Amino acid sequence: MTGDPFLVAASLSGAADAEWARRAAGYVDVALLGGVALDPASRAAARDLVARGREEFLPTDPLGFVADQLDAVADIDDSPVRPGINVRSATLGPVREAAEICADRDAVCEINAHCRQPELRAVGCGESLLRDPDRLSRYVAAAAETGATTSVKVRAGLPGVDLAATATVAAEAGADWLHVDAMDSEAAVGAVASALDDAPADATLIANNGVRGRETVAEYAARGADAVSVGRPTEDPPVLARVADAVADWRAGALCDRSGDGEYEPEQDPEPEARP
Ligand SMILES: Cc1cc2nc3c(=O)[nH]c(=O)nc-3n(C[C@H](O)[C@H](O)[C@H](O)COP(=O)(O)O)c2cc1C
Repeated sequence: MTGDPFLVAASLSGAADAEWARRAAGYVDVALLGGVALDPASRAAARDLVARGREEFLPTDPLGFVADQLDAVADIDDSPVRPGINVRSATLGPVREAAEICADRDAVCEINAHCRQPELRAVGCGESLLRDPDRLSRYVAAAAETGATTSVKVRAGLPGVDLAATATVAAEAGADWLHVDAMDSEAAVGAVASALDDAPADATLIANNGVRGRETVAEYAARGADAVSVGRPTEDPPVLARVADAVADWRAGALCDRSGDGEYEPEQDPEPEARP
């Protein structure tokens, strides 16, 4: 544990903008906007995704969009939420530029080593970075050197990828947060937690996937997570409120006392759709 547990709103491409953060602000501590494709190759991939019906942010000026959206989140004063941005890029330069924008605003720069669509993988974005730890390290180091809090979003279950080892590499390159989509394998969070405990570098572990209330928050907490995140529940206020209550109890040290007592509603995935 590297501090108080907190709740993160995880990126939903094409949906997670400042207005989305505003709607979630009463519940979450951090809102990771995007993902946003930054360079020509990743933008071409995003256009291909739109052509086959997916939602993507494709502003004319991606870095200007990042700055404007982060500023708009910073302007939410009734329920302050820390902003961040999930970025995809086939090249290093725009990652550094996005991180500089984040550093200026105390925002989080999250490197997307997560998305699995073939169009993004083909240009070396998303989960392809998990297969290229040297390039992942360079991205992380470039972002971290700007002074921005640097997160890496990763997914479990990729054949041939040792996620715990990759997480260690990212932490040693300067990642402040490891954001792990457990992909229905909570054990993956435990494995990353152990690896980070053994690594010389300190990093905060955020567990993602299927967090829907007390039961799942308690499960990830028991596996060693420092925080949890929600993607689809950001668009389902009753589930979001339930998760926020559980995280508040976790922060107060009351999560374990009440978990497993049968008081909570059954946790259901609001929309079991295909996702990146
Ligand atoms: C429509 C949709 C778009 C998504 N876009 C992104 C994205 O751009 N970047 C990213 O890192 N994860 C993206 N994700 C993954 C979510 O952030 C999250 O990891 C995933 O939905 C699992 O969490 P959940 O069970 O709380 O929804 C997306 C998920 C969905 C459903």
